[in-house]
Amino acid sequence: MKRIVAILSAVLFLAGIVVSAVAQAGSLPVGIVLPTKDEPRWLQDEARFKDALAKAGYNVEILFSQGDSAKEKANVESLITKGIKVLIICPQDSAAAAAAADAARKAGVKVISYDRLITGTASVDYYVTFDSVAVGEAWGDFLVSQAGTRKGLNLYLYAGAASDNNAFLFFEGAWNKLQPKIADGTFVVRNSTEAVAQSKKAKLSREEMGKIIGQVTTNWDFNTAKSKAEADLTRATGAMKGEVFICAPNDGTARAIADAFAVDRAVTKYWITGQDAEKASVQYIIDGKQSMTVLKDVRVLAADAIAAAVAYLKGGTPAKTKSYNNGRAEIPAKPSATTTVTKANVKAAIVDSGYYPASDFKGL
Ligand code: BGC
Repeated sequence: MKRIVAILSAVLFLAGIVVSAVAQAGSLPVGIVLPTKDEPRWLQDEARFKDALAKAGYNVEILFSQGDSAKEKANVESLITKGIKVLIICPQDSAAAAAAADAARKAGVKVISYDRLITGTASVDYYVTFDSVAVGEAWGDFLVSQAGTRKGLNLYLYAGAASDNNAFLFFEGAWNKLQPKIADGTFVVRNSTEAVAQSKKAKLSREEMGKIIGQVTTNWDFNTAKSKAEADLTRATGAMKGEVFICAPNDGTARAIADAFAVDRAVTKYWITGQDAEKASVQYIIDGKQSMTVLKDVRVLAADAIAAAVAYLKGGTPAKTKSYNNGRAEIPAKPSATTTVTKANVKAAIVDSGYYPASDFKGL
């Protein structure tokens, strides 16, 4: 009997070693925290992370914070308890996430800020991002090119959530291109007295941008975007309608704003921007209901984040081409390029590039 027990426990012991060795091979000591499932962008990231990790043979936990910084902090703490060595985190609120980054740093975990920069702390090791100023510049370039040499055109500005550092970068980019054309009378801003007041200023401070964003924020929320657009249209006189130019901050809010402008009978034509290449917006572009989007190839961002994590795990440091000041420290980064997508190149940029299959769309 004693011998049988001894043999059995030896077998169990060996099986335990085998099981943990397999788990080691299949798992990566990395945790990923994304802001919310309610903004479609982050479902793209989840799907692309899952694809990339499955291909590389890794298993990684992905948690969502559902728009709640307290839940985000709890997510980070639970990953720390599970022994992660690298945290990839996209903050819901750039400033509030500093506490979560500090907790990770204290536990010896490397912190990679993903897409959105965590602000006000030195506990961020690396920032994986697209060039967000360039995203805003692409909106500005697009609207300016539709304006041509005309003057007095109606411009409506909308922005992302002020709690998201990116909203400022996008706005800065848009302002770089739109401000000279507001100053020279090409455009007249119809829905922000703060933007009108600043229209002679090429470079705005964060506080000045904050005042404009405060008036035109969508909070990244479809319903807020829709009601803001409706309120703007209710306030606008006939002369402020006709052909309109709309700087919308992302695809979800662009569709909501476009729908509101489309049903106003005094609006004869609208041009509207976006970003993320959400499937619904790609269809809107094909159907002529959204004018452009900015493709941010999330496959690239997910791959960059995984490469950065692997670099840290091997004791190295990820590639750096520039740094971003987060109000406390300079955070190294290697921003990725983006692509402007209009009806003219939608098939090449979205389908031929392998981003989405043609079967996801009608009328291509
Ligand atoms: C992201 C955008 C996204 C927005 C709303 C931003 O930080 O960069 O891609 O549309 O958040 O989720």
